[in-house]
Amino acid sequence: MARSKGLKVFAGNSNPALAKAICDALEMPLGNARIEKFPDGEIDVKIYDDVRGVDCFFIQSTCPPVNDNLIEMLLFGDAARRASAERITAVIPYYGYARKDRKDEGRVPISAKLVANCIGVSGYDRVLTMDLHSAQIQGFFDIPVDHLYAAPVLFEYFRDLKKRLETRNITIVAPDVGRSKVARGYAKRLNAGLAIVDKRRVSGEETEFLDMIGNVEGQVCVIIDDMIATGGSIVDAAKACKKFGAGEIYVACTHPVMCGPAVERLSNAPLQECVVCDTIPTQGKEFPQLKVLSVAGLLAEAIKRIHFSESVSLLFK
Ligand code: R5P
Repeated sequence: MARSKGLKVFAGNSNPALAKAICDALEMPLGNARIEKFPDGEIDVKIYDDVRGVDCFFIQSTCPPVNDNLIEMLLFGDAARRASAERITAVIPYYGYARKDRKDEGRVPISAKLVANCIGVSGYDRVLTMDLHSAQIQGFFDIPVDHLYAAPVLFEYFRDLKKRLETRNITIVAPDVGRSKVARGYAKRLNAGLAIVDKRRVSGEETEFLDMIGNVEGQVCVIIDDMIATGGSIVDAAKACKKFGAGEIYVACTHPVMCGPAVERLSNAPLQECVVCDTIPTQGKEFPQLKVLSVAGLLAEAIKRIHFSESVSLLFK
């Protein structure tokens, strides 16, 4: 059953191209709001559309500039709540601050939980997000979370690639042990082999290769990960595949954060293609092997289903 006064989609400044693509898929204009900075750097929000009784969706990835994008989202939630929106959903294609999801040493924050708390108290009723760094972050929210996967979009691409390359010798590579379960899912669906890179994180920018579990010799390798930050994990995995005799090497990754030395590292890595999704803009970070797939259709469909109170999980059946 549709909400009484319809739905409106608004967007912050993090990813205007994705917001437009989602609205195009929904065949509706983007809602009218202004989000800008005061001269001192504080962020200001004004919603021009009447949202009283409206089912509002606010699209914002908390990618760099992470803190500005986060505050934009919090302030929009507050503005929409005070303007009597009927329901407000934070659509967060990329959820930043996710990697600090537990106390792995003394006297550190659990940032993923704090950010979830902030979103919950700023006026939002629901969250729609994609490929969280760890699925249990859903439980950090006290409001409903719909967790989408970019996998259908990436699967389709690599299924076509398999046909194009006319090869059966594909191996899915997890760049660390933590990603092995997701990699196993890809391997099963693509009828491919599985290998796991045993890596150790040395610092925020550096990782160290320890061992390769599984066989990649003569294989077309597809390294999968949820995000590329500095590129260290992916590039180390690619070099390891090469060292153990892999043929062509591809990357399939949802969130192209690509900060610091990432672009330089990736463009010099032994990669055929680096396939990412448009959850985060890549303008200004292009390199020859980069290929961007859109998840706008998936997000638009989920927004429609939430609005009409239809199953979102059925999207992945
Ligand atoms: C690790 O747990 C993540 O899944 C990514 O592999 C990691 O965060 C990517 O970071 P970087 O690109 O800096 O190695």
